[in-house]
Amino acid sequence: MLLQHQTWQEVESYLMRSTGIIMPIGSTEQHGPNGLIGTDAICAEAIARGVGEAADAMVGPTIGVGMAVHHMGFAGSMTLRPSTLMAIMRDYVLSLARHGFRRFFFINGHGGNIATCSAAFYEIYAEWEGAIGTRRAEGDDLRCRLANWWDGKAMGALSKEVFGDDEGSHATASEVSVTQFLLPETIKQAQIDPPRAPGGRFHGPADYRRRFPDGRIGSNPGLASPEKGRRFYETSVPELAKTYTAFLEEKV
Ligand code: NI
Repeated sequence: MLLQHQTWQEVESYLMRSTGIIMPIGSTEQHGPNGLIGTDAICAEAIARGVGEAADAMVGPTIGVGMAVHHMGFAGSMTLRPSTLMAIMRDYVLSLARHGFRRFFFINGHGGNIATCSAAFYEIYAEWEGAIGTRRAEGDDLRCRLANWWDGKAMGALSKEVFGDDEGSHATASEVSVTQFLLPETIKQAQIDPPRAPGGRFHGPADYRRRFPDGRIGSNPGLASPEKGRRFYETSVPELAKTYTAFLEEKV
């Protein structure tokens, strides 16, 4: 159930039965030699739509560009500064809160967004609950939750089983597989050399490019396939639907 495909009356009647909404958030950045620039937004959006169907929940518009400063050494990458992303998240959430939405479940496709999202949630809480300024009525609290699509227990086990140490941490074998499952017409034939990229930490964009010349970190996305992507997608959706429901019931 996409917010963009509803009428205002349909949204109003949805709000009579639920104040929850799923918000996909991704990134637009390099994903190594065979990964799409849009990988993080594509995965987050498709999985969010699946979770929306499984949990009979509204899905909001995707935040398609995230915090990807460290990827800017590679052509096509785009980034928001952390402060811009926080401002966007605040405006998305508070717009919807005005109409009665109170539980915001962000399905995230990009590790680089995590710190900024946590900070954005506190910006939102500071404003909503009047931590600074006027206090809102007791009991009308607003909650935000971030769930990375690859993070569930079943997902961790699946990644270990399918890719082991070749999963990596950027341009991962599983995210490339998910895009291949969703968009088989975009599958790239590319040389992946060495098969498993080096791992490790980095500082800014220039340092990232020096350490990880083809953009990958620790991964071998040469092992990706649409069929493996289907398994990841089909494992992630029900696991996240359960987490979403528990979030609405205030159990997580
Ligand atoms: Ni990614």
